[in-house]
Amino acid sequence: MKYSRIVGTGGYLPEKILTNADLEKMVNTTDRWIRERTGIYKRHLAAEGQTTCDLSEQAVKLAIEMAGIETNQIDLIIVATTTPDRVFPSTACLLQQRLGIHGCAAFDIQAVCTGFIYALGVADQFIRSGMAMTALVIGAETLSRIIDWTDRNTCVLFGDGAGAVVLKADQVPGILSSHLHADGEYEQLLTVPVGVSQGYDKMQQGETYIQMKGHEVFKIAVNTLGQIVDETLNAHQMDKSEVDWLIPHQANIRIIQATAKKLKMTMDKVVVTVGEHGNTSAASVPLALDVAVRQGKIQRGEVLLMEAFGGGFTWGSVLAKY
Ligand code: UT7
Repeated sequence: MKYSRIVGTGGYLPEKILTNADLEKMVNTTDRWIRERTGIYKRHLAAEGQTTCDLSEQAVKLAIEMAGIETNQIDLIIVATTTPDRVFPSTACLLQQRLGIHGCAAFDIQAVCTGFIYALGVADQFIRSGMAMTALVIGAETLSRIIDWTDRNTCVLFGDGAGAVVLKADQVPGILSSHLHADGEYEQLLTVPVGVSQGYDKMQQGETYIQMKGHEVFKIAVNTLGQIVDETLNAHQMDKSEVDWLIPHQANIRIIQATAKKLKMTMDKVVVTVGEHGNTSAASVPLALDVAVRQGKIQRGEVLLMEAFGGGFTWGSVLAKY
């Protein structure tokens, strides 16, 4: 039996920081409201000209260094992003070029905030089936480019960043299972309602912003993430107490607390980065994983439950032994 194992992690946050105090000067909001309703107190923003591929490259270098692999061993690159550098080529192809690799499969995955979970699930299948031996899986976003900085409902929530993992084939797990879901019925609740084949003229004029019915999204996210926890544990007949770490999508501290409660987990077993990172969409789970690994919190052999929920709606989980 072949499994995939996480052998390296990396994260990168752009230098520029936007605090709640900065936002108080931009829209009708308060530091108190943002902290109490979301748990966020700062977020990082890409510099002018700094792209999703730029952020990915930095995260990947650190992940490769930790994994101790050579770039020529990489035979699969998947970038999960909603904010690719270009319409095409994919950000994965641009990244492949930066890394000086030629020939291996490279593609992007678009599942918004669940993107990294989808990408990890897909890469795991490639490795299990023998189609790849060493995969780079990245979640990276420059969400600041699609935020309406006059809309207090959304502009206080999001940030930019990138997280990466190196996955390697191994005889021992590794990733135990992935659980991926979507329901397009909810496309209106969280969307950027323009793209290449719809409203491209607006896109060219820069009117391309995230729109969210936050309260509705919140309620469905809490319920759905509760269900994905059950589904994941049931698949392994595993008890809640057997999960060592919850590494959730970092959208809102109250959503994270609700999932922890469902797992009967104390918050010291939950990796929380939303305060410093904001919601970085596809980057949030790999960034949180990297922070916890580099802080020495997560130890080899421990059981990790990663989960996310986002636009689409999409949602999913990956259960892994680190
Ligand atoms: O990552 C993908 C998934 N995304 C999510 O999971 C996000 C889910 N949603 C949320 O995290 C929360 O719904 C929000 C943080 C977006 C909003 O929190 P809420 O507790 O659901 O607030 P609300 O939308 O019900 O709004 C409460 C009030 C409203 O005022 P009224 O109508 O009660 O007078 C809003 O206008 O808060 C107001 N409000 C703000 N006030 C100050 C909304 N944004 C702000 C703001 N500052 N930035």
